[in-house]
Amino acid sequence: MSVYNVQLKKVVDDSYDIEIGFGLIEKLICDIQNGLVGNIKKFAIITDTNVVNLYADKVYKKLIDLGYTADLFVMEAGEKSKTRQTKEMIEDDMLSKGYRRDCCVLAVGGGVVTDLAGFLAGTYGRGVPFINYATTLLAAADASVGGKTAVDTPLATNLIGLFNQPKKVYLDIAAWSTLPRRQVYSGMAETIKHACLADEGFFEFLEENVDKILENDKDACEYIAKKNCEIKYNVVMKDERESGLREILNLGHTVGRAIETVSDYRLLHGEALSIGMVAEVHLARKLGYMNEKEVARVISLLERAKLPVEIPEYIDREVLVKKLYTDKKVKNGQLRFVVQEGIGRIVEYSDGVFAIPIDEAVAREIIMEM
Ligand SMILES: NC(=O)c1ccc[n+]([C@@H]2O[C@H](COP(=O)([O-])OP(=O)(O)OC[C@H]3O[C@@H](n4cnc5c(N)ncnc54)[C@H](O)[C@@H]3O)[C@@H](O)[C@H]2O)c1
Repeated sequence: MSVYNVQLKKVVDDSYDIEIGFGLIEKLICDIQNGLVGNIKKFAIITDTNVVNLYADKVYKKLIDLGYTADLFVMEAGEKSKTRQTKEMIEDDMLSKGYRRDCCVLAVGGGVVTDLAGFLAGTYGRGVPFINYATTLLAAADASVGGKTAVDTPLATNLIGLFNQPKKVYLDIAAWSTLPRRQVYSGMAETIKHACLADEGFFEFLEENVDKILENDKDACEYIAKKNCEIKYNVVMKDERESGLREILNLGHTVGRAIETVSDYRLLHGEALSIGMVAEVHLARKLGYMNEKEVARVISLLERAKLPVEIPEYIDREVLVKKLYTDKKVKNGQLRFVVQEGIGRIVEYSDGVFAIPIDEAVAREIIMEM
């Protein structure tokens, strides 16, 4: 008998820049010319049916004019497209157009596009580099940064995917001006979540400036874009693979992700998250971690951001309770919630563990009361 010991210790540097600004297509092209992805000359631009004419086509034309090879791969806009089937369709299309390992995936769009494109890049030819050009507030606040990539399945959202870090992320704040209003509100949910879990001062800033942000005030929008990155990266840099601390970014997502699926995506991600955060502040109050006044402040800020704070009538509450068990924090059949403490802090349940076991009866009671 022989045993070979395969030595594969790795020192990996996945560091990258997030560029925040207004109208960053020129900068993206300039970076590519200056070697952002080495000598790669072939770009698969993945986008959706709304973003293609607004932004992705501009990127495509500029690359072609400069002599690069590029193609647009356009998926149907919306959460329902974030599936294995869409990924496979784009992969087949890329294969037939001659894309091999010497290419780069360029995601231009919101979180649906960056999640799917990042996952695709991680498996295509066993991995090709990718760049995110985020065009929504939600993608800027959360989805395009942090390296979590995934697609949805009929059972629940984001169940199949990879940790895969991009080469660079561009957060184009100017692109928020073409977003439908409802999408801007949806994006505010992840921003409010960040304030709730990490920074009371930022929460107060949002209370004072929410109207300005919704009106696309340049300075206020740039401030929240930077603050979101700062809060998210303070967590991700300590726990990239969610073995402990990163779970705090899940605040509001236990109920949020479940209700998003049960609504069959009638609720946008941020809308579902908003309802999830309301459920979780009620839970925090029940457990003695928040008082009535703090709960009211969180709900009021969500309302001022024009987000829903109640479970819609059409949601079957019992189905919702069952769906909670598809959450990735569930361990040994036990529901686990991230719980807010006051405003700007998260309860640490035990050393390095942030998700608290919660009885189904308690979760059900809160859902029924909402
Ligand atoms: N990977 C992560 O860590 C992470 C974190 C949070 C959310 N997410 C995921 O992000 C997704 C939601 O992101 P989203 O809200 O950006 O969704 P999205 O990509 O569906 O974009 C929202 C809508 O806006 C349109 N759009 C995008 N940019 C536009 C622009 N500038 N002007 C006009 N229309 C534009 C899109 O076509 C779409 O219809 C969900 O799938 C969620 O699971 C991922």
